[in-house]
Amino acid sequence: MTDPVILTELRGDGERRTALVRLNRPKQLNALNDEVMDALGEALRRFDADPAVGAIVITGSEKAFAAGADIGMLSQHDFISAYTTDLVTRNWETIRSVRKPVIAAVAGFALGGGCELAMMCDIIVAADNARFGQPEIKLGVIPGAGGTQRLPRAVGKAKAMDMVLTGRMMDAAEAERSGLVSRVLPADKLLDEVLAMGELICTLGTASVLAAKECVNRAYESPLAEGMMVERRMFHALFGTPDQKEGMDAFLAKRPAKFVR
Ligand code: CAA
Repeated sequence: MTDPVILTELRGDGERRTALVRLNRPKQLNALNDEVMDALGEALRRFDADPAVGAIVITGSEKAFAAGADIGMLSQHDFISAYTTDLVTRNWETIRSVRKPVIAAVAGFALGGGCELAMMCDIIVAADNARFGQPEIKLGVIPGAGGTQRLPRAVGKAKAMDMVLTGRMMDAAEAERSGLVSRVLPADKLLDEVLAMGELICTLGTASVLAAKECVNRAYESPLAEGMMVERRMFHALFGTPDQKEGMDAFLAKRPAKFVR
């Protein structure tokens, strides 16, 4: 029997729990083929719909988050098949429709589609051995799952051009300096700390968490004035939730808030 290409479990003991999704093709450095991306998409849809899940963490192995799209799979394509089967779109874009926070816990290589998958997550936390890169140029192609679009937004044009045109890797310290990752942790602490982040998010009000994610994403996809309008309306709308009453009452009463779902 072959090993499953992803492993999933629920972590934490609160009312809502963190779903942990582990990419599991360690011998291929978690190269992303259709089987992995189909399974990942199915797991993400299931956890997003499950009210007992408050946050999702995607991780890989100590050596590789994911070393990119599976080059063996890519090498089978010509233009017509890539175009007509919607290569790296059909089963790669599910993550964009997930409304709950998704955190990438990245150790080792996050290259090509692996770096792009991490960038599709809401937060990237890196182990000190993490290495990020878009080496597709060395394969005679370019990043095809958002690398030319999300990397410049994360690290700026100069560094993105440097990475995409030379295919060089960036270490964890450079990734943190450049704004690609939010934190760098010792490799042996990575998963525990990221799961603790997930657990913290699980204790917060669902509506405000979803609204916060939606509004930050608007910053990337709309002009400032429109993004500001969405934020303001969402801010106003949250005054209609029990969580706003509870959060503010708890602060004023100097007690911990207990948010309802
Ligand atoms: N696809 C398929 N197999 C891969 C792979 C990939 N992206 N990356 C690594 N592997 C396989 C290797 O072929 C090797 O398999 P075998 O043991 O059967 O030979 C195994 O994983 C271990 O890899 P290495 O022996 O190469 O390990 P290393 O430590 O010497 O090097 C590495 C590690 C630098 C990450 C190197 O494996 C590498 O350069 N990988 C390719 C990275 C890459 O080019 N990624 C971009 C892919 S294209 C893409 O992602 C397009 C897109 O935008 C969606």
